[in-house]
Amino acid sequence: MSNTSAPVSAALPHLVTSLPGPRASAVIARDHAVMSPSYTRDYPFVIAKGDGAMVEDVDGNRFLDMNAGIAVVATGHSHPRVVNAIRAQAEKFLHMSGTDFYYENMVELAEKLTALCPAPAPRRVFFGNSGAEAVEAALKMARYHTGRDKFIGFLGAFHGRTMGALSLTGSKAVQKQGFAPLLGGVTHIPYAYCYRCAYGKKPETCAVECVKVLEDTLFKTILPAQEVAAIFVEPVQGEGGYVVPPRKFFDELQAVASRHGILLVCDEVQAGMGRTGKMYAHEHFSADPDIIALAKGIASGLPLSATIAKAQYMEWKPGAHASTFGGNPVAVAASLATIELLEQELLDNAAQVGGAMKERMQTWPGRFPIVGDVRGLGLMLGFEIVKDQESRERAPELRNEIVQRAFHRGMLILGAGQNSIRLAPPLVLSHEQAAFALDTLEDILGSLSR
Ligand SMILES: Cc1ncc(COP(=O)(O)O)c(C=O)c1O
Repeated sequence: MSNTSAPVSAALPHLVTSLPGPRASAVIARDHAVMSPSYTRDYPFVIAKGDGAMVEDVDGNRFLDMNAGIAVVATGHSHPRVVNAIRAQAEKFLHMSGTDFYYENMVELAEKLTALCPAPAPRRVFFGNSGAEAVEAALKMARYHTGRDKFIGFLGAFHGRTMGALSLTGSKAVQKQGFAPLLGGVTHIPYAYCYRCAYGKKPETCAVECVKVLEDTLFKTILPAQEVAAIFVEPVQGEGGYVVPPRKFFDELQAVASRHGILLVCDEVQAGMGRTGKMYAHEHFSADPDIIALAKGIASGLPLSATIAKAQYMEWKPGAHASTFGGNPVAVAASLATIELLEQELLDNAAQVGGAMKERMQTWPGRFPIVGDVRGLGLMLGFEIVKDQESRERAPELRNEIVQRAFHRGMLILGAGQNSIRLAPPLVLSHEQAAFALDTLEDILGSLSR
């Protein structure tokens, strides 16, 4: 129990029991008996209710949620306008299967998502239920359209856990171990992870070797370009550590893809839907992807994904691909309300609050020797914990310690990559809440830096 005596506003954390409290402990014990042990839980938080960026556990402890359910509740927990939209749709009908019948709000959402794409082009949308499904649809569509069977992905990338999406994933060995054989024909190359450039370059000396390797080496040796259907890339690598590539990375990637008739697929499952301060993360790089995969924040917590493709690439026959639940009308209603809120206020809030946070966080490497790098866009912010700044040796134990300490100070944060921490709060985060988050983290970083 840390701050029981200080009365705080409902918009800030307040702990009333030691953690976990008795009710949380009881739920966790039951969970351990029946739930899949493959789930990863970093600390014993058991939610009872949420409101905006705040969540309360079953013992009445209030936390600041700097994860948003892994970058999902874009509009905050149970935003009244999203809840009203869900309620209104639920009273009309819950399901009809958009793959077999028509309903209007699904069409409306597809119109909206395509109109929001910055580069004008006729586009079509396939709706699924999860990020992995959005990626699966992109994989299948790329093969179907190009008649090619190979793919390029990036080390550090996370695209999901179904067999196809898992094959593209290059994140953690534990996610792949025991599941072979995976989809053949996927080649992973290093991402534009400039703090740890695989080619030993500095920004001043970088000639985008991480993309040049395709034409200079891979296409000439093991991977004929004319057999590659698509390149899958996260505009900001999420699970890989919130890694932001330089703009020239996308320029080169786009150029290589178009020279060889390879489709460029942006997996915006984590970075999309306003998280970076722009509706689509690829807007930051002026990229023009052929296919975009969206999920997570798209419906503020209801399961929904979208695969948006330029119309000439989504030309498969009726029956070629479908999903019973994909584009569920209640999830679609939540998505339409989410997008309206993003456009009206939350994109701006993400850019402003996130921008101010990043400015302050950028002072951290100068103040805390264990912070190696700070990066991010909008409210997708990460920082990397190292043993020392000279060697840049990763410090995963220290990172984990920070996550635990934050929890015991009333703040939910999570790691990303081997030794980074991600901040992906609801986009309703206020300046006051952001200041609390950074004050708390600075306190923790200061005590661990001594
Ligand atoms: C970039 C990216 N793609 C795909 C996925 C998979 O999404 P889901 O867990 O909804 O299948 C994730 C999940 O973290 C992700 O971050």
